[in-house]
Amino acid sequence: MHSILIIGCGSIGERHLRCFNNTGRCTVAGCDTNPMLLEAMVTRYGVPVFSSLDEALAKGRFDAVVICTPAHLHLPIALKLLPLGLHVFIEKPLAIDVALVPEVREAMAQAKGYVAVAYVYHLMPWMAGAREYLLKGGLGKVLHVSSTSGQHFPTYRPAYKDIYYAKHELGGGAIQDALTHIVNAVEWLIGPCTRVYCDAAHQALEGVTVEDTVNVSARHGDALVSYALTQFQAPNENTLVIHCERGSVKVEIHERRWGFIHHGEAGWTWHVTPPLERDELFTAQASAFMDGMEGMATPLATFEEAVQTLKFNQAALRSAASGQAVEIS
Ligand SMILES: NC(=O)c1ccc[n+]([C@@H]2O[C@H](COP(=O)([O-])OP(=O)(O)OC[C@H]3O[C@@H](n4cnc5c(N)ncnc54)[C@H](O)[C@@H]3O)[C@@H](O)[C@H]2O)c1
Repeated sequence: MHSILIIGCGSIGERHLRCFNNTGRCTVAGCDTNPMLLEAMVTRYGVPVFSSLDEALAKGRFDAVVICTPAHLHLPIALKLLPLGLHVFIEKPLAIDVALVPEVREAMAQAKGYVAVAYVYHLMPWMAGAREYLLKGGLGKVLHVSSTSGQHFPTYRPAYKDIYYAKHELGGGAIQDALTHIVNAVEWLIGPCTRVYCDAAHQALEGVTVEDTVNVSARHGDALVSYALTQFQAPNENTLVIHCERGSVKVEIHERRWGFIHHGEAGWTWHVTPPLERDELFTAQASAFMDGMEGMATPLATFEEAVQTLKFNQAALRSAASGQAVEIS
């Protein structure tokens, strides 16, 4: 049995706590600075809780941590824990800037722990299916990708005004909070983004000033990629279309399906996954992380993949502020 500490028991932290528990492969404990949340974790799950990371480290014994605080704290916390030999699973986005990345790299090289980042799209069977099909190479080179996505954020995250989302410096706004998932998934499918032109604005969400709407015209190497995302629209939909030399792949994330079509064919050939509870993806993700702890291969986003997506986030914010395209090294 592994022993896992969840750091930050807010919205996603509670889900990780429950889903790691659901795997039956570990014991879990929670840590949060909010005493009311800790009480809720005890009542709902009967787990040990700690009111600070220092208290948890002094009183408990853990093999791994899941860092579920707002993003500006992800790397400072990782830096504290890697030298202790712990495995570290970090929520997205990796951070709000790259300042601590070299230090964390160094700590990872010294320590033996497994490190991964919780970009959960890597666990979606429809995303993995599309990726496997593209990697086989039968469609040829990727030439163009378009992504359109969005949801009515107030419906899905009513607390958005009162959490990290309201501030860029805490990891908020549509680019760092929502678009980052999609860009990371596209990078996983076709390779890293190399240039970004981003137009973004606050269009609708009440009580915040960060961007809730984003248009990006990007290059991922030779491929032209467009991203459009809103957080005020009624439909909760997320579609990715990848056009290649000899045909196309489409992923309809909200329909849990992916398909392909070759030049000259009349319609898509679809692969559909039956309905899943949202927890199932996170339980699969928890299990994959423990596979990684045990030395097995996993589909999880690596630290370096998350650094690359962090560079995209930063480049997109810079481009939106300056009106200029930004190259990503
Ligand atoms: N993968 C996903 O689908 C997904 C979904 C939501 C959020 N997230 C990411 O997870 C992170 C947290 O998001 P959230 O929605 O759960 O936010 P949240 O505000 O609901 O929870 C964050 C929690 O961290 C706690 N915290 C802050 N500083 C702490 C510290 N020093 N020690 C212990 N606890 C501390 C806060 O008290 C709070 O309860 C963000 O980076 C966010 O982008 C990922």
